[in-house]
Amino acid sequence: VKKVSIGLLGLGVVGSGVVHIINNHQEKLKHQLGVPIEVKRVLVRNLEKAREVDVNPALLTSNPDDVLNDPDINVVIEVMGGVDITKEYILQAFSAGKHVVSANKDLVALHGPELHAAAEKNKCDFYYEASVAGGIPILRGITDGLASDRIERVMGIVNGTTNYILTKMAEEGTSYGDALKQAQELGFAEADPTADVEGLDAARKMAILGRLAFSTPVDLKDVTVTGISQVSTEDIKNGSELGYTMKLIGYADFEDGQLEVHVMPTFLSNDHPLASVKNEYNAVYVYGKAVGETMFYGPGAGSLPTATAIVSDLVNVVKNIRLGVTGEQVVKNYHNKALKTPSE
Ligand code: HSE
Repeated sequence: VKKVSIGLLGLGVVGSGVVHIINNHQEKLKHQLGVPIEVKRVLVRNLEKAREVDVNPALLTSNPDDVLNDPDINVVIEVMGGVDITKEYILQAFSAGKHVVSANKDLVALHGPELHAAAEKNKCDFYYEASVAGGIPILRGITDGLASDRIERVMGIVNGTTNYILTKMAEEGTSYGDALKQAQELGFAEADPTADVEGLDAARKMAILGRLAFSTPVDLKDVTVTGISQVSTEDIKNGSELGYTMKLIGYADFEDGQLEVHVMPTFLSNDHPLASVKNEYNAVYVYGKAVGETMFYGPGAGSLPTATAIVSDLVNVVKNIRLGVTGEQVVKNYHNKALKTPSE
């Protein structure tokens, strides 16, 4: 491969961050990869919209075929969101032999294994580091960094909006409604914040984390979820007087030989490492049999942090292309094939 040509699906907040990093980190990327990277086409909904990021308007198109059927494009980066149409586009990309990097937690939580199967069949790579906890390299942390360990428990603050709301309620006595409004203004919340406050966004991320940490299928329907919409400032204050901090925690652990994934508001003792994670920040606490306690902390959303994870996936894809190992996804727990005794 002499050059990496990218087709971008979407140019919103995260897509613009991807273009920014590719434009501004060329030297570092060239050093990592040995070949230049270019953005070749960008699928957008509105061709007329003014863009803040430096992208040649001639690259923009509203026709997905211009990306998916361009033989020069070797990697498709999906940052458009949505599930059904997006899945079709990604399957089309795999059929055309293109590798895919996605930031789409909804899609991966619902159809991850099927997409992996399509990728493998076409000898393509499929990575989605940005789908969980934005800029924190948690999927790679689990699948590479802790690949040799037996993970026993994953606990995560994986939704920035709810963490922001709970922090403001605890520290400033802000009402739930006002704190939610602030989170929306700051741009962390989903278009429909119900997914955030009712815990569904966290459930999708925990389903992905649970599958990868325990090499076990996780059906989103089996994830039990309670959000924070019923939590009052009074509840938080009462807990705080007793030395507890309320957080929306996602859990994935083995109980009675079964993987249990659930999300619920939890009072953590103030000395638990997750209790000190504030505002929109995310953190994932992983307990491994050999390593013991680890915690991965950082920004769970935002243009450049999320784009960092995406472009790092791209670096992985290019390394695999050069090694001739695309589609092998060496760590098999990306698939929905359960280990016999994941916790043993
Ligand atoms: N709405 C999400 C959050 C954005 O608040 O964490 C990042 O996935």
